[in-house]
Amino acid sequence: MDYSQFEPKTPQNILDWAIKQFGTRVALASSFGLEDMVLIDMASKLSGSLTVFTLDTGRLHEETYLTMDQTRSHYGIAIHSYFPDTEEVQRLEREKGFYSFRESLENRKECCGIRKVEPLSRALSSLEAWITGIRRDQNVTRTDVPKVAEDKDHPPLIKINPLADWSLEQVQDYIEKNKVPVNPLHKQNYPSIGCAPCTRPIEEGEDIRAGRWWWENPEHKECGIHRTP
Ligand code: ADX
Ligand code: SF4
Repeated sequence: MDYSQFEPKTPQNILDWAIKQFGTRVALASSFGLEDMVLIDMASKLSGSLTVFTLDTGRLHEETYLTMDQTRSHYGIAIHSYFPDTEEVQRLEREKGFYSFRESLENRKECCGIRKVEPLSRALSSLEAWITGIRRDQNVTRTDVPKVAEDKDHPPLIKINPLADWSLEQVQDYIEKNKVPVNPLHKQNYPSIGCAPCTRPIEEGEDIRAGRWWWENPEHKECGIHRTP
């Protein structure tokens, strides 16, 4: 189906449509980064409620867990967390140690596969559509993301990216104007936050995703939960 009619719509229009169209069969995937916080805030001002889930990889920063708890209480919402399969994590750690992802791209993808991709497929299994905070200018891998489209990686789901055409400045402006709570790591030069051992602060002038898997080339900087644009 062609969803290009959503391209001129605002994020609020798109969220409102998604909640009305899919009800509890749509959910926001949230890592509680700036974009996800904007979407949670926008959804809180709409009439229906939006389910929020997170992939708790077990390797997140303490500040991220605190942000999740603050979000729960500030908005009075439940956060549906998905944890990786215990047996798989135990096997990985026993066979390859605790930092195997630093050794090769293959090992990094294996860890992301266990800690993010497999839990995501469980989170999506009961849904018809999911919402993400991805934006086109975040990375070379994201320049073509549509606002609404069939998700070729997770058929027959619809993937909704309400902030696809927003700039970082628009996101920051919204946060400031609406007093949205954010992860305190952003103030310590972490514009993009993933797992603690795979995220570092950026230096002045560096790209906003330079601190994610900083030892890899930009075209590899995807964990596998967003593959096909
Ligand atoms: S990532 O794939 O490189 O980690 P990024 O951090 O840019 O993604 O986040 C893009 C979007 O992916 C977020 O706005 C959110 O919708 C989703 N996302 C990323 N990480 C998680 C997570 N741990 N749990 C749930 N959703 C996530
Ligand atoms: Fe593992 Fe790093 Fe991927 Fe997190 S971001 S799942 S720690 S490789």
